Amino acid sequence: MKQDEKLVRIGRTIENFYVQKMVSADLIEAILYSINAGGKRIRPLLLLELLEGMGLELTEAHFQVAAALEMIHTGSLIHDDLPAMDDDDYRRGRLTSHKKFGEDMAILAGDSLFLDSYALVAEAALPSQIRANLIAELSQAAGTFGMVGGQVLDMQGEGRDVSLEELQVIHANKTGKLLTYPFIAAGLIAELAEPQQEKLRKTGQLLGLAFQVRDDILDETASFEDLGKTPQKDVAAGKATYPAILGLDGAKHFFEEQLSAAEILLAEVEMDIDFSGYAIRKIIESLRLNDEGKSRCSSL
Ligand code: IPE
Ligand code: IPE
Ligand code: MG
Ligand code: MG
Ligand code: MG
Repeated sequence: MKQDEKLVRIGRTIENFYVQKMVSADLIEAILYSINAGGKRIRPLLLLELLEGMGLELTEAHFQVAAALEMIHTGSLIHDDLPAMDDDDYRRGRLTSHKKFGEDMAILAGDSLFLDSYALVAEAALPSQIRANLIAELSQAAGTFGMVGGQVLDMQGEGRDVSLEELQVIHANKTGKLLTYPFIAAGLIAELAEPQQEKLRKTGQLLGLAFQVRDDILDETASFEDLGKTPQKDVAAGKATYPAILGLDGAKHFFEEQLSAAEILLAEVEMDIDFSGYAIRKIIESLRLNDEGKSRCSSL
């Protein structure tokens, strides 16, 4: 299936979920405003490309799991932008949710996205044990032991001298775990043996950490037009970032090395099982930065 079609179907799966019932039209308007703002959808795409690479024909159930992941990610961005957190006015090229709808609605839209995602996975037509494992892993990636825990560490790191070891833990949790989820979920859905699941998990962890390092670099190097969000916010907020600790060149070097390490692990999985990592490698390559630390690909 072409990537464009996958993107359309991810969006449609989320919209279909929200048109089934109606309690508050205003809440659904706020949710879909952020969902349809033009995010890159890298997390759900990784999942779908991994599944196809393993020879699976994509089903509605796969799109429901992919959609659930994008919903949690979008909820995390709405909350991340709130005045009590990073206090951002723009996201995905639009006013942030709280600027458009007010803080009360933005908090509630984020709450909805976090909670509704589990219904999508629970409704997916997959064997019940796999579904239960997908739900448990999603909670681990998103909640207290993943994204939310990492966001707490990120807030507590502001204005403080954070060591590289501490920063790695912050990034691995606040961003790394939701980016690792596609690799865990694909391993569960395809019922891979434990050693291959573990290799995929490690690939996701490398990519997940790299992704936040890239975001840190782009905060310094990219423009509002490139990012759809206000640049140069991390230094102003006293955030702990890779460029702050390693310098821009050091951060860029670390980032490129992480991507290469992820590609090596992916190649190992290709040798172990019947799997083509072509599409995943293409996504990884599209993340690489040019010499000035800017994105090479207009959509990323
Ligand atoms: C931004 O994530 C926040 C981070 C976790 C680094 P993305 O860069 O994936 O944002 P969207 O989804 O494309 O807007
Ligand atoms: C966001 O990290 C991580 C999340 C869990 C949302 P950032 O705060 O660096 O993301 P941006 O730069 O606002 O997108
Ligand atoms: Mg943040
Ligand atoms: Mg932020
Ligand atoms: Mg950032």
